[in-house]
Amino acid sequence: MEIRKAVIPAAGLGTRFLPVTKSVPKELLPILDKPMLQYVVEEAAEAGIEQVIIVTSPGKESIASYFQPQPDLDNCLSGSPEFLDKVRHVSNLAQVSFVIQEQPLGLGHAVLTAREAVGDEPFVVILPDDIVVHIPGVVAQMVEVSQRYNAGVVAVEPMPWEIVQNYGVVDAVSAGTRLHKIRGMVEKPKREDAPSNLSIVGRYILPPEIFQCLERTKPGAKGEIQLTDGLLMLLKQEELFAYEFLGTRYDGGTPMGLLRASLEFALARDDTREETRSLLGSLDNQ
Ligand code: UTP
Repeated sequence: MEIRKAVIPAAGLGTRFLPVTKSVPKELLPILDKPMLQYVVEEAAEAGIEQVIIVTSPGKESIASYFQPQPDLDNCLSGSPEFLDKVRHVSNLAQVSFVIQEQPLGLGHAVLTAREAVGDEPFVVILPDDIVVHIPGVVAQMVEVSQRYNAGVVAVEPMPWEIVQNYGVVDAVSAGTRLHKIRGMVEKPKREDAPSNLSIVGRYILPPEIFQCLERTKPGAKGEIQLTDGLLMLLKQEELFAYEFLGTRYDGGTPMGLLRASLEFALARDDTREETRSLLGSLDNQ
């Protein structure tokens, strides 16, 4: 079945980015000059997603205004087509709508908040602090897998075993190239208990049945409704695959991860490469 809708949870507190996240949503923090949120909306649009549902919270109104046309700004920039394109581009990517999660009760709860907007069809969940660079993007790769197997798909990435205890990992059996059939999932396992080193990355293609599961999911770690717990319930009735995506992932959820992403993106871009190289060179000599 066609995947037409994406849910982007963006209602978290962003505590790892305090103090800036007191008033600036983490999801609008930039890699170089573009908000993380825009990268993932572009990734969704590239995969043919028509409707993007962003879950925000009271106090994060700047997320909605980022996607709205700004006629006054357009007027000011009328003599600079290059800037005008940049400003308008984001409003033309997909149809974007918003739902409000009143309290940050967890990722599973955030997804459940989008239930009515998604309706009775499969959809993709994209976490805006996992940024992956690849053409085609991860969502496009996963849509292809999901359609081939007519099943839900979770993105995974092999991690060094020494740091596996920091991640949620899947228990899965091989089902083909880069593909595994999921039997279970464990949050932050001890290295000796970890069923695999395949960590779950923030992209999920899910059937609408996930909503009934999330509705029945009890708050788990930190009193939050965890998406992983909902997925474990879903596994009892639906097949789920783990897909090792192609691409480089950046962790935009921490200041150091975002700094690294900004530097690598700047090194990859023609207009910023040389200046970044000489900056890094000069720091090296200090
Ligand atoms: P994170 O755990 O990375 O985000 O959730 P966070 O909770 O905002 O950050 P920290 O841990 O306090 O630093 C992944 C995504 O899920 C969203 C976040 O906004 C982020 O985009 N999320 C998380 C929600 O929408 N609602 C929640 O209740 C929790």
